[in-house]
Amino acid sequence: MRSPFAPACPARQWRVAAVELGPSGPGAGELSRVLACQRAADLADRPGEPGICPAELRGLLVPPYCGRRVLFTATDVTGHVVGWARLGLYEAFHRDVAHAAITVHPAVRRCGVGSMLLDALAWAARTWHRSRLIVDAPRTRATEAFASRHGLFVSGRDLHSRLDLDGPELPHRLVAAVNPAAANPGGLPRQRRRHARPGPGDGFATLCWSGPCPDEFLSGYVSTLDYLHAAQPSGPLPAPSPADASAPDSDTNSRFEPGSSPGVTPFTSAEVRHREQSASRAGLREYTVCLIDQTTGRIAALSSAHTPDGLRGEQNETVVAPDYRGLGLAVRVKAQLIRGLLAAEPSLAILDTYNAVDNHRMLAVNRRLGFRPLDTHAAWTLTL
Ligand SMILES: CC(C)(COP(=O)(O)OP(=O)(O)OC[C@H]1O[C@@H](n2cnc3c(N)ncnc32)[C@H](O)[C@@H]1OP(=O)(O)O)[C@@H](O)C(=O)NCCC(=O)NCCS
Repeated sequence: MRSPFAPACPARQWRVAAVELGPSGPGAGELSRVLACQRAADLADRPGEPGICPAELRGLLVPPYCGRRVLFTATDVTGHVVGWARLGLYEAFHRDVAHAAITVHPAVRRCGVGSMLLDALAWAARTWHRSRLIVDAPRTRATEAFASRHGLFVSGRDLHSRLDLDGPELPHRLVAAVNPAAANPGGLPRQRRRHARPGPGDGFATLCWSGPCPDEFLSGYVSTLDYLHAAQPSGPLPAPSPADASAPDSDTNSRFEPGSSPGVTPFTSAEVRHREQSASRAGLREYTVCLIDQTTGRIAALSSAHTPDGLRGEQNETVVAPDYRGLGLAVRVKAQLIRGLLAAEPSLAILDTYNAVDNHRMLAVNRRLGFRPLDTHAAWTLTL
């Protein structure tokens, strides 16, 4: 029954339409109609924060590798978008799951728009023979109530953290991470270290690029990236992180969406190239740093991030290959990435990251660099 405290709804009829998107995402007109709705929601849900920009929205709407992206819009009688949802259907991995997100314009919340969109998503996911629909959303009073009303349960949780790139302590933290001796010239450790911390000149060379991975490093990059599999939950419910996990950051637009079960499908060069092309088509600028073992030529650690507007950045993955764990390379590669980002994108003010709440090692790395927790996102799951 509708709560007596729910606001009165305008006497309007909503119409939900679905369109499967091509490699470039929606056309400019469709994008700007959805953008207006999302910006109104951002203003209401995240006051004081910069709203979404076109490249970021387009990045969310391009099809995943070997998969489909469907855009759902709910419109009022005048044709205004009052809510929208996106559905991701993967074919290369976890074919039993569909991933989604829903946003409703603040002016029409509690008027059934979110429920209509969820019904449409569930119907489409069933049509594509999916057994679970996973909706990514921050944990708020509204989402908790909406989820419980529709029988969605939490199958994974991500901590959303943020680094202020103009914070006064950051330069020191970055020096300490990249070159601990320079940050503490007295030589005496200020606190007991759990790991030996190699400095520069210790056999690791730094390799940086923006945009696509250079051809000659692609296969090594794919091999190291694939160690992400070792740290991902293997079933619908998240497993505790192994003690020495590879410390991945989440990649919100990839196979590692919260609550998914990636199985054992390895990364391929084709998938990495697809991701790069999609990002570039959307207008996202990507940056990557690797630490290369100079003896073997292997990529020991990698970290990447992107920005849609030069103001806000988002971390993609950070991985340390198993043979190189416990050497402090995760902090170091991430610090070098942040330095590179600041050099290439001097107006960048914040860097956001999402990590599984049980990924204790990556969360510790983030704390050392100065990331602070903002909120928690849940993988709300509907069994179809
Ligand atoms: C969560 C969200 C999608 C709900 O959309 P909506 O159109 O307001 O949802 P509905 O009107 O279909 O609500 C259905 C039921 O969910 C519950 N509900 C939704 N919002 C609620 C709120 N703020 N407080 C309490 N209950 C709420 C109620 O039981 C409601 O039924 P009722 O209004 O008859 O009591 C919307 O608040 C939103 O866009 N939030 C920001 C984006 C987001 O978090 N998306 C994730 C969705 S899981």
